[in-house]
Amino acid sequence: MLLTEKNTSERFIKPFNSNLSPNQQLLPLSATINGQNHLEIGGCDVVELTEKFGTSLYIVDEQTLRISARQYRDAFKQFYEGESQVIYASKAWCCMAIASILASEGIGFDVVSGGELYTTTKALEMSDLGTEKIQNKIYLHGNNKSVAELELAIDSQCKIMVDNWLELETLARLSAAKQTPVSILVRLTPGIECHTHEYIRTGSIDSKFGFDANQLDAVFTFLKEQPFLNCIGLHAHIGSQIFELQPHNDLAAVLADWYKKALDYGLPMEELNVGGGLGIRYTESDDPPSIEEWVQTVCKAVTIACQDRDIPLPKLISEPGRSLVGSSTVTAYTVGGRKVIPNVRTYISVDGGMSDNPRPITYQSLYEVVIANKMTCANVETVTIAGKHCESGDILVKNIDLPQTKPGDILVVLSTGAYNYSMASNYNRLARPAAVLVNEGEANLIIRRETYEDLVKQDLLPSRLV
Ligand code: LLP
Repeated sequence: MLLTEKNTSERFIKPFNSNLSPNQQLLPLSATINGQNHLEIGGCDVVELTEKFGTSLYIVDEQTLRISARQYRDAFKQFYEGESQVIYASKAWCCMAIASILASEGIGFDVVSGGELYTTTKALEMSDLGTEKIQNKIYLHGNNKSVAELELAIDSQCKIMVDNWLELETLARLSAAKQTPVSILVRLTPGIECHTHEYIRTGSIDSKFGFDANQLDAVFTFLKEQPFLNCIGLHAHIGSQIFELQPHNDLAAVLADWYKKALDYGLPMEELNVGGGLGIRYTESDDPPSIEEWVQTVCKAVTIACQDRDIPLPKLISEPGRSLVGSSTVTAYTVGGRKVIPNVRTYISVDGGMSDNPRPITYQSLYEVVIANKMTCANVETVTIAGKHCESGDILVKNIDLPQTKPGDILVVLSTGAYNYSMASNYNRLARPAAVLVNEGEANLIIRRETYEDLVKQDLLPSRLV
């Protein structure tokens, strides 16, 4: 095989440019190849990082994270005449360091559980980012919030996306009992189809989330009578990992219709939340729109929809998750053994798998791979990357072209910042990996590796068993 750039991992590397949209890149923006032909991210040699912090290891590029946040924030300023606020769908990766970095860039938070609310609030308190400043930037989601979660949200003064009748009635009761005004947004199911995996499609009629359109008149009538519930806005989210822009135009029209109706009911409407969903590049053939294109589409669609209905421009809220964090991170593994089945397949095993990245087994997601210590070596064979779990389906990547590898090489799976750590498990009692934040040659641990002690921390042995 010819040694051309096309045939090596060099093709993934681009000169650093903060105008590139991170969600369109396979590697974090700071990625380069250093003099030893090693992958370098945030000025840190990935092989050295793995020597210091072990594998499996999530490596987060701070610059990429900040640039994604700034591109979202600045594009809304550029393309929308009204107020806007980007909130991070923290389900993508909820940990204190990421929360703190995004908050420092002016991003708010979409949290879906007491745990995400607690983590985010704690991060903001510890980073001294002024909880009072962020308070009206936290929104609680969820289709089955517990009473305790609702109380925590009320006490933390965050806004609540109301999903269903039970929750509406519970909130009316709690806010009245506490004599505390609560700001809510009503989540509706917009009935919009988009092309993504069925598990991550949320906008179609057959969805567990939100009120159906035919319930909304009754909801607005109910809300008018509630002294402590301020219905300040509407919310909808159509799905995740979406490359099309048209569904966002359709969504703006549906939301604006209902926004106008809610105003007609006399509700104190001021916010419209269009959800998240912008896809990222996982493979060379993926071609998502840029952050700027997505924002421009949303802003234009909402502006036109409001003008057409003669309603004032609402504060425009968006809640990206994947496209804020996904491309900032890679996962590094150590290559182990290989199994060659002649004329069938060659498996290469690594020291992680479905416990640190459950997306391939859950959604048949595809990923690109590089070998951090062989960045300029030509691809010479097609292999399948197997995780180390006792499960045949634990395959990270099928049939990928790689250079000749041997045990001890550092294999890196790209674009793993979103829905990897946040969905990680301890299956087979694997300790969850560490995560390290890199920037300008500095590497800081942001999540420590679990220990065997951690694995038994929650276990109890009743006294009659000992
Ligand atoms: N807002 C709501 C109400 C959501 O349900 C979601 C994602 C988002 C915002 C953020 O969407 P994003 O910008 O990240 O596409 N575990 C799946 C993805 C589940 C998405 C759940 N909701 C995966 O790994 O692909």
